[in-house]
Amino acid sequence: MTSLGSMPTEVLPFTPAAIARAVVLLQSGSVVAIPTETVYGLAARADDSAAVRRIFEAKGRPSTNPLIVHVSDIDAAKALALEFSAAAERLAEAFWPGPLTLVLKRRAGMVAEEVVAGGQTVAVRVPASPATRALLEAARLPLAAPSANRSMSISPTTAEHVVKSLAGRIPLVIDAGPCTHGIESTIVDVTREPAVLLRPGAVSLDALNAVAPVVDPGAIVVSRDELAPSPGTSQRHYAPRATLRLIEPDVFLDELEKRRAGGALIGAISFMAEHSRDTTVEFLGTEPEAYAASLYAALHRLDDAGCREILVAAPPRTSSWRAVRDRLRRAAASE
Ligand code: TXA
Ligand code: MG
Repeated sequence: MTSLGSMPTEVLPFTPAAIARAVVLLQSGSVVAIPTETVYGLAARADDSAAVRRIFEAKGRPSTNPLIVHVSDIDAAKALALEFSAAAERLAEAFWPGPLTLVLKRRAGMVAEEVVAGGQTVAVRVPASPATRALLEAARLPLAAPSANRSMSISPTTAEHVVKSLAGRIPLVIDAGPCTHGIESTIVDVTREPAVLLRPGAVSLDALNAVAPVVDPGAIVVSRDELAPSPGTSQRHYAPRATLRLIEPDVFLDELEKRRAGGALIGAISFMAEHSRDTTVEFLGTEPEAYAASLYAALHRLDDAGCREILVAAPPRTSSWRAVRDRLRRAAASE
């Protein structure tokens, strides 16, 4: 019997020796936390049910929520799929290696049933971070990896975040510093024609559409029931312990002052330079990419500081802020 919460968790900087150690663990069916360019992932070999179950166990993740499989190149991705559409080809060509996940018709027998939660599709991506690439090349295995946090909490963008969430439950974290993108991959269902956006993320919809038509179910009149749901995109998902509130920018400082009047510890996050005059406001930059890269770290920091509430100035309703707004909305949802 495995007893969770008692195993020593080692943190190793990204070196050839660390990769070698991770490969031994992964090949023997253990889990390892790895730095991808989006967020830290909790990896296990995707072809082994027992290994994959260790991911769900360590995270406390419901077994109905399927995992993304990480592979080293497009050919390895095609090996997992029954078909690879022309749109899939163009998107893979343009964005791999990188923060794009494609949902494909699954070829039977390639990954454990637990990875796909019994479904007929498989989500695949070719990651770009040097550490994850080195690991995939050395391990020669497809790696299933969700974000390396306890289920329902904020995704980790540093090795410290992983340790805070999973220490004692996993044997190893490879530390390659903060993640470049800091927000999860964009997920596109390419089993449909045209392809459908399932989760906004590090690759913007505009960038996708410059390469192949991808429809945004948030923007077209189509019943949500007709679309393959991304099971993990349940309402509350990226949530801190503190209550997060989205506030319109023009009343943000007034609202902050009001809520702090009683002496409560209230965190504040904004994209507006003028809000940074208040030095207690975490100013994350005016551009969505930079903002996304530091958002989760800011939420972790304010949560750890014991803030009861975190006020966030609501970013513009423009397409470039779509992924950030999606995460903020989920973090703010009350259930
Ligand atoms: O950037 C990322 O994608 C990170 C890094 C580690 O690669 N991973 C990540 O995994 O965000 P996770 O498990 O936190 O989110 C994966 C999402 C979930 O919402 C899950 O429901 C969805 O992908 N998903 C997985 N397989 C799917 C499938 N076959 N069809 C539809 N959605 C799927
Ligand atoms: Mg996650």
